Amino acid sequence: MNILEVRNLKVIRGNKEILKGINLDVKENEIHAIVGPNGSGKSTLAYTIMGASGYYPSSGEIIYKGEIINNWKIYERARKGLTLAWQEPARFEGIRVRTYLKIGMKEEYKKDLDLAYKKMIEALRLVNLEPNKYLNRYVDETLSGGERKRIELASIICMEPDLAILDEPDSGIDIVSFDEIKRVFNYLKENGSSLLIITHREELANHADRASLLCFGEIIKTGDPKKVGKFYIERCGKCYKSGEFYEC
Ligand SMILES: Nc1ncnc2c1ncn2[C@@H]1O[C@H](COP(=O)(O)OP(=O)(O)OP(=O)(O)O)[C@@H](O)[C@H]1O
Ligand SMILES: [Mg+2]
Repeated sequence: MNILEVRNLKVIRGNKEILKGINLDVKENEIHAIVGPNGSGKSTLAYTIMGASGYYPSSGEIIYKGEIINNWKIYERARKGLTLAWQEPARFEGIRVRTYLKIGMKEEYKKDLDLAYKKMIEALRLVNLEPNKYLNRYVDETLSGGERKRIELASIICMEPDLAILDEPDSGIDIVSFDEIKRVFNYLKENGSSLLIITHREELANHADRASLLCFGEIIKTGDPKKVGKFYIERCGKCYKSGEFYEC
C-alpha cells in the first residue's frame, strides 16, 4: 500500500518548468530517498508535496493516503500526518525549544504534559542534545546551525508523522553524526512513519529501502539505493562535484 503517489507532476516557477512530469511512490513504512544534483528540483518537489505557498502543480496529481491533495492547504496536510523538515529551518525567535517541540505534537500529548515531556526528552536525547540544557533555550540565532537542525529533527520525532519529508537532513550537521541521523530514521520507521529523504549524499541514500534519482526535473531511475547511488555518482558526477547543473 502506498502512503504517497505522485503522478505526472509538473510545477512551473517563474516562467520555468522545474518539475517535468514526476512519477513517484512511497510505500507505507518505507524509507525512500531522493538523490539528485543541485538545482534538479528536489526542494521544489518537497515543497509541492507539502503544499507550501507558491508551489502548486500545473498538472498531475499528489495522492496521499488515497486522496488527491492538490488543493489541500498546508495545515490540512499537516493535520493528516504529513510533515516537512525544511532545508533551511525557520527561526522561531522568542519561542523556547520546549514550546517549539510541543507545537506539532498530537492532542494526546497536549492534554498530558508529563507524556509530552517524556517524548521531548526522548527526542532530544536521540539527536544528542542534553534535554536539561536545551528545553529552555530559545530557538534563535544563539543556536548553531547544527543545533537548529538537530532540534528540527527532534520536532519531527515529537510529531509522530505518518509521512515525513526531510529535505537535506544532514546539511549543517558534521559528518561524524551521520549515525545519529540514521538512528533518527530508524526510530521514526520503527514507530510507524514513512520517510521521504532528500539528500545529496549517496551514503545517506544507501540507508533507505528504495531510492529515486531526480535529474533536471524528472525521476530517471528508481530502485535499489546502492544501484541508484552508483548511477548517481557515475553519471551525475560532474554536477555533483561542481555543485553546478549541466544537462547530460
Ligand atoms: N521562482 C523561481 N523562478 C525560476 N526558477 C526557480 C524559481 N525557484 C526555483 N527555481 C529554480 O528551480 C530549480 C530547482 O530548484 P530546487 O531548489 O528545487 O533544487 P534542489 O534540487 O533542491 O537544489 P539543491 O540541491 O541546491 O537544494 C533551480 O534551478 C532553481 O534555480
Ligand atoms: Mg534543495
